[in-house]
Amino acid sequence: MASLKELLQSADYKSEKHVPVIEAPDKVKKQDTFKVNLSVGKEIAHPNTTEHHIAWLELYFLPKGEKFPYQVARFDFAAHGASAQGPNTSSIYTQPAAVCSLKSEKSGSLIASSYCNIHGLWESSKEITVE
Ligand code: FE2
Repeated sequence: MASLKELLQSADYKSEKHVPVIEAPDKVKKQDTFKVNLSVGKEIAHPNTTEHHIAWLELYFLPKGEKFPYQVARFDFAAHGASAQGPNTSSIYTQPAAVCSLKSEKSGSLIASSYCNIHGLWESSKEITVE
C-alpha cells in the first residue's frame, strides 16, 4: 500500500529547491501574535511556468507531546501563466510565498508542506518555544 509518509520528501532547502522554507521566531510569548513566512525557492529558485510550478503550501502545528497536528493555513497559487492563447502567455504568475499570523499557547512544531505539480510533495519543520 502506498503511503503519504513515504511520498513526502525532505532535504535542506539550501540545496533542494522544492523544500518549503519556514521563517518564524524561535521563541514567542504566549500572548503575542507572531508571523510565519512560508516560501519555496528562497535559495534556489523553483520554476514558475504553466508546465512546472508550486501549486500550494500548507502549514500545520503540532503541539509538543501531542499526537494530532492542526492545519493552520493553506495557500493555493492559481496563476501560472496560462491563458486562452496557451501556456505561459498570460503574463501573470503567483510566486509560492505567503505570510500568516499565529498565536499559540503551547510550544511545538510548525510543519510545512509544498506541492510541485511534477515533483510531488515536500516537507520541512521548525520548532517554536512558547513561554
Ligand atoms: Fe518542481
